[in-house]
Amino acid sequence: MSGESGTLQAYGHQLGLKGVGKDGTSVLEMPHARPSAPVEKLLAELTVEEQVSLLAGSNMWNTVPIPRLDIPKLRVSDGPAGVRGSRFDGPASMNVPCGTALAATWDTSVIREVGELLGREVIAKGARVHLAPTVNLHRTPIGGRNFECMSEDPLLTALIAVEYVKGVQSHGVASCIKHFVGNDTEFERMTIDSQIDERTLREIYLVPFERAVADAEVMSIMTAYNRINGPYAADSVWLLQDVLRDEWNFDGVVMSDWFGLHSTAEGVIAGCDLEMPGPALHRGQKLLDAIAAGQVSIEAVAACARRILELMERTGGLHQPPGAESTRDDVDDLALLRRVSSAGMVLLKNDNHALPLDTSVEMRSIAVIGPNAAHGMVMGGGSAHVTPTRISHPLDALTASFAARGVDIHHAPGCNINKKLPELDTRLTSDVVVEYFASSTDLDAPGTAPAETGTTGTFRILWAGDPLNRRMGDIDFAARFTAQFTPDVGGEWKFSVESVAPVKMFLNDALVIDNTALDRGGSFFGMGKPELVQEISLEAGITYSMLIELRHAPRGMGLSGMNIGAMAPIVTNQRIDAVDVAARCDVSIVVVGTNDDWESEGWDRESLDLPGEQNELIADVAAVSKRTIVVVNAGSPVAMPWLDDVDAVVYAWFPGQEMGDALVDVLTGVVEPSGRLPVTMPRHLEDTPAFEHHPGRNNAAQYVEGRLVGYRWYDTVGK
Ligand code: BGC
Repeated sequence: MSGESGTLQAYGHQLGLKGVGKDGTSVLEMPHARPSAPVEKLLAELTVEEQVSLLAGSNMWNTVPIPRLDIPKLRVSDGPAGVRGSRFDGPASMNVPCGTALAATWDTSVIREVGELLGREVIAKGARVHLAPTVNLHRTPIGGRNFECMSEDPLLTALIAVEYVKGVQSHGVASCIKHFVGNDTEFERMTIDSQIDERTLREIYLVPFERAVADAEVMSIMTAYNRINGPYAADSVWLLQDVLRDEWNFDGVVMSDWFGLHSTAEGVIAGCDLEMPGPALHRGQKLLDAIAAGQVSIEAVAACARRILELMERTGGLHQPPGAESTRDDVDDLALLRRVSSAGMVLLKNDNHALPLDTSVEMRSIAVIGPNAAHGMVMGGGSAHVTPTRISHPLDALTASFAARGVDIHHAPGCNINKKLPELDTRLTSDVVVEYFASSTDLDAPGTAPAETGTTGTFRILWAGDPLNRRMGDIDFAARFTAQFTPDVGGEWKFSVESVAPVKMFLNDALVIDNTALDRGGSFFGMGKPELVQEISLEAGITYSMLIELRHAPRGMGLSGMNIGAMAPIVTNQRIDAVDVAARCDVSIVVVGTNDDWESEGWDRESLDLPGEQNELIADVAAVSKRTIVVVNAGSPVAMPWLDDVDAVVYAWFPGQEMGDALVDVLTGVVEPSGRLPVTMPRHLEDTPAFEHHPGRNNAAQYVEGRLVGYRWYDTVGK
């Protein structure tokens, strides 16, 4: 530790953290190196070629097996919103609240329980390593992945992360904490140089990682995409060797973020053990050539291979291949998800006894308004996405709870906040069948049988590799989706397709969309075709046969995907309708926020404003409503210019799959809303610490505000 980390040690001592001496100067308690006889024996038996093969994935989620020595592949799985497993459309997973929601509990014991639940989910997905938690910090409130991260404060982040990791690892599987370090926004994220002075790194951005190593003995770390003061994080000797291994005594596995390794010799020398995903882009034969050329030693290669084998041994996978992937359905875990979800909700304002809602007084009708009311956002977008085992939406949960008390519920969305069409609502579909074919041409050869048949709970699918699990690059397959679609509203429906490979969509045998002629642009990390929207007139309550065909001919990096959107006709002015509803009811609950068009991996938000006409909607509703309760459903801060006009505000974050029931618990007073803000809520983006310097220039993000992150800056400058 540098002498300048006294602040952390003093903090740690106050909190009684392990390994911090009373004088505030002693070093952290280190995990022990663990020499293992079985690992050493295997290492001695492995050829250099075999050791090299271990140093990169075999595909998106697995390492390379070595059958000769009975070494199976090791499976890793995203994180942090749950444990997704090998497929975006695979068996459903339990979906936990987002990082900010977890931190807002300020409750390490409930986080420990969440970690334990996630450990059970890792096992259910046959994986050994969970790619979570995300502990980058909220340098600016508009960071696209802030919802995954926990806080602007390194200590709060550290305390939450430590319990999360301890919980996961208590099941004998590993956490892979990420992204080490300086991946605090999404701007030019694959190449940008995060220029952060050493004191700021050590006192702020490195702290959560350091505590996870020292206090939770985290078994794995993922490097960041960005460069850090020059070299890429995955190549940084200072970061990976000097700080992580020499100072912190980290003895686990360091893996690259996906496609985030850019070198052959440098990464191995720095101690980035595993290139992910596979097959190797920079290792394999290139690494063997680098060894032959004397650019990297066989000892450095063996050190990486040893750590990968040790991780397999520590997680029980040295001779045990990954298990089958399944969905758990455990009522106790569902109850925990509901409890932690409500524990993170923050009551920001409560005037005029607006809450809790009391049905014993004159309250016979509730207006449930807002774009996120019927379809709550339970998580943000990107690699963190999982398919939840179920979703409790606010409108459904409020209706179920209040109908039983004789209160009428009236709903109006009020406005639309989607940048693109929303995902086709699976509640309007039935009999969904997905057939995968071995070749893109199979659909054109009548009678060809599918190689695999299943179903899907989502129409936003990313195939990271071959869906039939045959190979990684140059994937070649076709998929046919059939379903029954029953619109709940009649009129001009909009449908959309956004995909990597050509897609045709039919309703009752009529071609609705064909995007074959479109070129790439935008979607799917730049590899997909832009969204194509078509309108079609449908009748309410009539069931239509839906057919979707996708033909992925061999090309590209082994990634494919398809988003199917659908939007019901909007026949009236949504805001006026909502105001009408509000005026007729005794209470208005307005569920506003963002969604994964706005908060996702890959891009930052541009402003703090609620998207669409939500500010106007709240103001209009508040003007006519007897009581206005605003629920903010967003993963990070939004501006609240209407704060003085409403009676109560509950900040609900992206609270995970049990959102609706948890919200009812808070609104009715069954649960004390004991969440507290883990981030400062600024009024204006211009007032925020990194405003002058974000997003940086010339591919460099200069952290000029230094240690003054979040509240430290507001306190210092007097905002
Ligand atoms: C993300 C990681 C994630 C990985 C695998 C990357 O794009 O940055 O957080 O674990 O993909 O999905």
